[in-house]
Amino acid sequence: MSPKKTKSEPASVFSPELAARFDALVEKYPVKRSALIPMLLYAQDEVGCLTDAVIAEVARRIGITELEVRNVATYYSMLRFKMAGKYNIQVCTNISCMLRGAYEVLDRFREELGIDPNGVTPDGLFSLEEVECIGACCWAPAIQVNYEFHDELKPELVPGILAGYRGIDRDKKKGKAGDA
Ligand code: FES
Repeated sequence: MSPKKTKSEPASVFSPELAARFDALVEKYPVKRSALIPMLLYAQDEVGCLTDAVIAEVARRIGITELEVRNVATYYSMLRFKMAGKYNIQVCTNISCMLRGAYEVLDRFREELGIDPNGVTPDGLFSLEEVECIGACCWAPAIQVNYEFHDELKPELVPGILAGYRGIDRDKKKGKAGDA
């Protein structure tokens, strides 16, 4: 007789910390589905994008179908299905930003990074996207890098912005080596 198998949950694609956060999140809302967008954002932050495994686990945790998760996820431009760079640069080229030089800013990012929109640098550090309004029209032209805004941009400010993120990355790596 073969050993009895106990039915267990499939292994999580998330870290134990994030899995615990999700457990708490689905309990927080009267309707579990209300946790969908925050869960997708947290999952994307940790995994890098919404992979099939991420979608399957989020659907299971909320108790809806994968198709329902995809239907919501495809609606929001901040959610993505393709890996982005560590620093995802979103350049708004909507009307206010466009009138104040957004395309010149975008071109400077392309030039500095050597990639086109939707591209990722070979070292995986940066990705570039052209996006619709990010709600910073009063300070156009504006960009968002992960959750950080930079506004009233000019092409000549682009190298400094990139250097800043490269510096953060270098400092973090140094910190890690020092901790070891
Ligand atoms: S048009 Fe660019 S932030 Fe609104």
